[in-house]
Amino acid sequence: VSRIERALDIADVREAARRRMPRSVFDVIEGGHGDETTLSANRADLDAIKLFPRSLVDTTTVGLETTVLGRRLALPFLLGPCSFGRMCDPEGEVAVARAATAAGVGYVVPGAPSRTIEEVSAASADPLWYQIYLRPDPAANVDMLDRITAAGYSTLVVSVDTPMKPYRARDLRNGFSLPLKMSPRLMLAAASKPRWAVDFAVGNGRSGFSIASARRSVYSFEDAMRVMRPVTLEDIAWLRERWSGPLVVKGILQPDRIDELVELGVDGVVVSNHGGRNLDGVSSTITALPPIVAAAGGRLSVMLDSGIRRGADVVRALAMGADAAFVGRPYMYGLAAGGEAGVARVIELLRGELVVALRFLGCTSIADIGPDLLGDGPVARDTRFEVRRAIEHARTGEIE
Ligand SMILES: Cc1cc2nc3c(=O)[nH]c(=O)nc-3n(C[C@H](O)[C@H](O)[C@H](O)COP(=O)(O)O)c2cc1C
Repeated sequence: VSRIERALDIADVREAARRRMPRSVFDVIEGGHGDETTLSANRADLDAIKLFPRSLVDTTTVGLETTVLGRRLALPFLLGPCSFGRMCDPEGEVAVARAATAAGVGYVVPGAPSRTIEEVSAASADPLWYQIYLRPDPAANVDMLDRITAAGYSTLVVSVDTPMKPYRARDLRNGFSLPLKMSPRLMLAAASKPRWAVDFAVGNGRSGFSIASARRSVYSFEDAMRVMRPVTLEDIAWLRERWSGPLVVKGILQPDRIDELVELGVDGVVVSNHGGRNLDGVSSTITALPPIVAAAGGRLSVMLDSGIRRGADVVRALAMGADAAFVGRPYMYGLAAGGEAGVARVIELLRGELVVALRFLGCTSIADIGPDLLGDGPVARDTRFEVRRAIEHARTGEIE
């Protein structure tokens, strides 16, 4: 049995990934910004939320389906946009797309993919979501939107939390800076994991021989990072005019722009701190969620990512008012540890944990998850207050 089949939870998959990759490459996936306090707060604040099971419910069968932005999903989480697919597996995003479509799970293809967006789309039976990083040149954005439309993507996610190329000391210490140069330190790192090095440099049986594709994957990322720029409300209005499908804004931690986003016709937001990768010291996402759910008041979908590692974490986010969660690193570990099968295993593990969580919590469906599961502690009281206020606000247009 392979290591990936033996993995019993995401921590096991992470360990399998860590063993297969050079340390410096694993760190690119794993690391956060600065002292990584936000990275750990994402976990600690989720862990601090204790759930209160309902009793005397027949949970012999539980359903995990849900609807997000009008689309049925087999599970209440999506695979969020993560670049560097090709550093985990020679098939990169294509392997992720295959595993996602086989499981009926949504996948948001990253804005700096290591495969072409057409290749990734063709690997999925269902229309995928695409995450765009807006560039300074409007003509380049128009071209990109045309390509996204032609390739059949259903939903556009615009990331608004990365106004400049992120600075990560962990990567710089490892000699991993962009543009990527084959420094002696990186060559040594690659030599420490020869199987990974061959997969990365020349591909494997499934991906074909592809030195060019390895190079292209690095260029695609470098290119996107070079032109990183702030995104403003005017950009969102511009996108809304040109994109007719559902439009989602990713990377907010405050409710400050919700009314304007609703007015512009944005369909959803993702409460995200980029998995603690962009600015250390910002709030955990689960702490940021309730006021945003309140401000949204059901007028747009609210999703959350950063730190989701267990089925019970998804339940925590939904009990706090999110409509769905994204996972990032968990499926990247799976991709690194076992390619498409590794991603499939991660989905399967989270699915299993969700079933267990729902059954022990006395819930029979995703719609059944509610704030009563938070008990009556301060978190629950705050959340209920915020949600009540939101309903009031949505009904009357005023607060209180
Ligand atoms: C290796 C890696 C690459 C990422 N690349 C992108 C990206 O290209 N675009 C984006 O919007 N977010 C990107 N993210 C952030 C994820 O979409 C997501 O917000 C984050 O990973 C969620 O936290 P988690 O990893 O704790 O689940 C990336 C995250 C990782 C770990």
